[in-house]
Amino acid sequence: MNFIVSELIKKKRDGFALSDDELHFLVQGFADGSIPDYQITAWLMAVFFKGMTSAETLKLTYEMKNSGEQLHWRNLDPKLKTGFFVDKHSTGGVGDKVSLILAPLVASLGFTTPSKIPLKIPMMSGRGLGFTGGTVDKLQSISGFNMFLNDHEKVHALVESGYCMMAQNESLCPADRKLYSLRDVTATIESLPLITGSIVSKKWAAGVENILYDVKCGSAAFMTDFESAKTLAESLVAVSKNAGMKAKAIITRMDEPLGALIGNALEVKESVYILKNEFPNENMRRLAMPLRDLCVDFAVEMALLADPTLSQTGLRESCYANLENGHAWELFEKNLFTQGATSDWWNQLELAPILVELKAPRDGYIQKIDSRHIGIAGIEIKAGRRKSEDTIDAAVGFEMLCAPGDSIKKGDTMVLCHLRDKAQFDLIQDNFIEAITIADKPIKHHANLRLAEVT
Ligand code: URA
Repeated sequence: MNFIVSELIKKKRDGFALSDDELHFLVQGFADGSIPDYQITAWLMAVFFKGMTSAETLKLTYEMKNSGEQLHWRNLDPKLKTGFFVDKHSTGGVGDKVSLILAPLVASLGFTTPSKIPLKIPMMSGRGLGFTGGTVDKLQSISGFNMFLNDHEKVHALVESGYCMMAQNESLCPADRKLYSLRDVTATIESLPLITGSIVSKKWAAGVENILYDVKCGSAAFMTDFESAKTLAESLVAVSKNAGMKAKAIITRMDEPLGALIGNALEVKESVYILKNEFPNENMRRLAMPLRDLCVDFAVEMALLADPTLSQTGLRESCYANLENGHAWELFEKNLFTQGATSDWWNQLELAPILVELKAPRDGYIQKIDSRHIGIAGIEIKAGRRKSEDTIDAAVGFEMLCAPGDSIKKGDTMVLCHLRDKAQFDLIQDNFIEAITIADKPIKHHANLRLAEVT
């Protein structure tokens, strides 16, 4: 069916919903190049101001999913005929290395729980942009690790380790890729239906059957206030369910960095410490515990999404046991080697050579460590990207030595910066002064990261 594009833009501009055929025409026309950027830009801006009905959001998601390759895991190999395909998507934050720990942890439930629930985690990840890091960047700091797998390699990783880590390739949701690039330069990123369509279409195309969304809320999150995080969570869950997936969202705090280490290679290190239950010192163990507990929380949620009859307490106990007895670590290592990591990858994990300590300017109590300022400092030293084409430096980053609620003495080291040269410290010092607030009186800090859930 053919439509006049300017009429469709006008219809949305005036607040009316587009039909299925009209949305099909727009999305496919943009994907195949027959509708120019300037018309789609006008339509995106109309959507930004007028929104979409839930039927329109679902159709947009469907069209984006249909614009490229779609994965059907059960048809790939007889060994994948049974089992539950589960994934987690985070809207991103500073120090968010959850996927690295969560994938082997969830997989370990499939290999070790009494019920041996056959969970398979085909984890599709993206690169980081801005201060929200990407799992692809973190894993690419591991020498030899390959995230661009062919079908045979995906099946091999899923069968051997219970999970595979994949980077989004060109053929998955090409319409979303084109639309996202246009949104990025036309101030139309922050639109609920457009964000929803973009995220859910990729999960749908990736053949995920059970999806847990981690919607971050706070200063370094996409959604800074609770109400907008909740609205996004509701939209993601509703559209995913309408697309035939089982879905749940957890809204979690992103006011402080997640865990103790920030930076791509450093975050791989912290993930390994948690998976092996071996930390270089007790302070790092203490600071990593909220991150570990969040991973356990998510692993339990993912298993319950797949099979709600399982015991929550039993799953939680299995998760903690598998972090202590090495099962989750074994699967992590197995996955690394099936995806090409070199045998000496750990020794090859490069950290930047210059260490600079950030000292406390006075006695007091840490009141706040604002992750947004830390994230911006990360961009300054190239741990994160300013623009999507920027290259990052996997070896730089920050080691947090304190957390909100801690008492501190003047001259104590609060942060250890791993830098390329001392000049980088001059670039970031002000960000840390802004980020870390020291109060005179003790404060009560709420360690719980989980704020709410949407089912
Ligand atoms: N992440 C996505 O994949 N798409 C968006 O639109 C926003 C965040």
